Amino acid sequence: MKYKFFNRLIVLAIVFVVIQPFSRMDAKQPEMVSFKTPKRPAGQENVLQLQCDPISTVRVAFVGLGKRGYNAVRRFMFLEGIEVVALCDVNKEAIEKSQQLLAKNGKKPALEFTGEKDWKKVCELENVDLVYNCTHWDLHTPIAVYAMEKGKHVALEVPAALTVKECWELVDTAERTRRHCMMLENCCYDFFEMATLNMAQHGLLGEIVHVEGAYIHDLRENNFKDSQKGGYYDMWRLKYNEKYQANLYPTHGLGPVCQALNIHRGDKMNYLVSMSSGQFGLTEYAKSKFGSESDFAKRKYQKGDMNTTIIKTEKGKTIMIQHDVTSPRPYDRIHKLSGTKGYVQKYPIEGVALEPNTHKFLPEDELKQLLKEYEHPIVKEVGELAKKVGGHGGMDFIMDYRLIYCLRNGLPLDQDVYDAAEWSCLVELTEISVKKGSVPVQIPDFTRGDWNKLKGLTFAK
Ligand SMILES: NC(=O)c1ccc[n+]([C@@H]2O[C@H](COP(=O)([O-])OP(=O)(O)OC[C@H]3O[C@@H](n4cnc5c(N)ncnc54)[C@H](O)[C@@H]3O)[C@@H](O)[C@H]2O)c1
Repeated sequence: MKYKFFNRLIVLAIVFVVIQPFSRMDAKQPEMVSFKTPKRPAGQENVLQLQCDPISTVRVAFVGLGKRGYNAVRRFMFLEGIEVVALCDVNKEAIEKSQQLLAKNGKKPALEFTGEKDWKKVCELENVDLVYNCTHWDLHTPIAVYAMEKGKHVALEVPAALTVKECWELVDTAERTRRHCMMLENCCYDFFEMATLNMAQHGLLGEIVHVEGAYIHDLRENNFKDSQKGGYYDMWRLKYNEKYQANLYPTHGLGPVCQALNIHRGDKMNYLVSMSSGQFGLTEYAKSKFGSESDFAKRKYQKGDMNTTIIKTEKGKTIMIQHDVTSPRPYDRIHKLSGTKGYVQKYPIEGVALEPNTHKFLPEDELKQLLKEYEHPIVKEVGELAKKVGGHGGMDFIMDYRLIYCLRNGLPLDQDVYDAAEWSCLVELTEISVKKGSVPVQIPDFTRGDWNKLKGLTFAK
C-alpha cells in the first residue's frame, strides 16, 4: 500500500517536472521590443506648428523625375507663385521631358543636374527654397537631411524613411535647422478622406475607437518592368520584396486614419504587433510570366503577400493596417473609421452609417447630401481645379496646392516632420515584429513628450 502511494507520488512529480516548462511558456508574455529615445540636444525645440518667413515665389528644385516626379512638375504648372529652378535625375531623357513641360507652359528652362550625387549640388543652390524629392526610397532621408542642412524646405515622397534611425535624423534635422519637412502623403487629401475627417472633427462619428487603412495594390506587372518599359528605375521596387518581409509602404493607409485620431495632436501610437503571410504571389507570377527557370522565378522573395499590423494608442484606440502588392485584387486602401456614434468606410464602396440607423449604410442620396454638407473647406476652395489637373483623381494637386499656399503665407504645413516619422517608422517596426514571431514593438514618440500639446489637427489659413 505504502509502496503504491510512493510510486504515484513519483509519477506525479515526473509529470509536474515535464509539464511545468510548457505551462510557463504559455503564460509568458512576449517582451516588448523598445527603442531608447535620443535626448533632445540642448537648445533644440520641437517644430510643432512651425512657421517660417513667407516666400512670395517658391523656387523649387525637383530631384527624381520618373513617373512620380514628372507628374509633380506637370501639376506645378497649374500653381501660382512657383518657379521651377532646377531639375535633377540620373536619366537625361527624364530631365528633357520635364524641360519640355516647362517650355510648353512658357516657363524659363531650369538648371540641369544628372550626376549620381548631383542632388547635393542642387541642395547647395542659393536660389532654391524647396527641394521636392521623388527618388526611390533609400534616397529619401539622405536628400531631405542634406537639403535642410543647406537651409531648404523639403517635400519628400512616401515613405520618408526606412528605419527608426532615419526617422530621428529627419526629426532632429528639422528641429535644429527650423526647416519644414513634409512627407507627400497625398491620400490625406482625397475627397472622401477629407470629408470624413471633417465629419470626425465635427463629432458626427462620436469618439473614434477603431480605424483601418491599407495599401492593397496589384503591382506585379510594374514590379517586373524596368523604367524603359514603364516600370521602375533599376527595378528598385522589386528589390525591396527580396529584402523585407513586412509592411514596406504603410503611409497611404495610415496617414488619413492617424489624422482622424489626432496622432501627436492629443493621442499617440504606443505599440504594434505585425504578422505576414508567406510569400506565394510573386514567385507564382514570375514562373507563369517568365518560366520556372527564369532569374525572376528563382529569386528569393521575402515579402509576405499580406501583412497585417495592429497598433494600440495611448488613449486606448486601435488601428489596423494592411499591405499587399502581389495579390490579384482590386485597389483598396480600406479607410474605415469606427466611432461611438457612427461608421465610415471607403472601399469597396463608400458608405456612412450613423446613429440611430447603424445597421445599414445611408441610402445613396442621403450619403451624397452628407458628403456635400461635410465637404472639406479646402476641397471647396480647390477641389474643382484639382479634378481638372488630376493626379490620382485630384488629391495630388490639393496636396501641392496646400504645400505651396502654406509656404507662400508663412503658415505651418498640414503635415509635419513628426507625421513623416510616425507613419514611416512602421517599415522597420513591422519588420522587427514579423521576424520575432509577431512580438509587440514599441512605437517611438518622435515628439519626445510633446504629443499632447496640440489639440487636434488644423489646416492653417
Ligand atoms: N504618393 C504616391 O501616390 C506615389 C505614387 C507612386 C510613387 N510614389 C513614390 O515616388 C517615388 C518615385 O516613384 P516612381 O514611381 O516615380 O519611381 P521611378 O523609378 O519611376 O522614378 C525614380 C526616378 O529617380 C531617378 N533617380 C535614381 N537615382 C537618382 C539619383 N541619384 N539622383 C537623381 N535621380 C535619381 C530615376 O532615374 C527615376 O527617374 C517613390 O518613393 C515612390 O514610393 C508615390
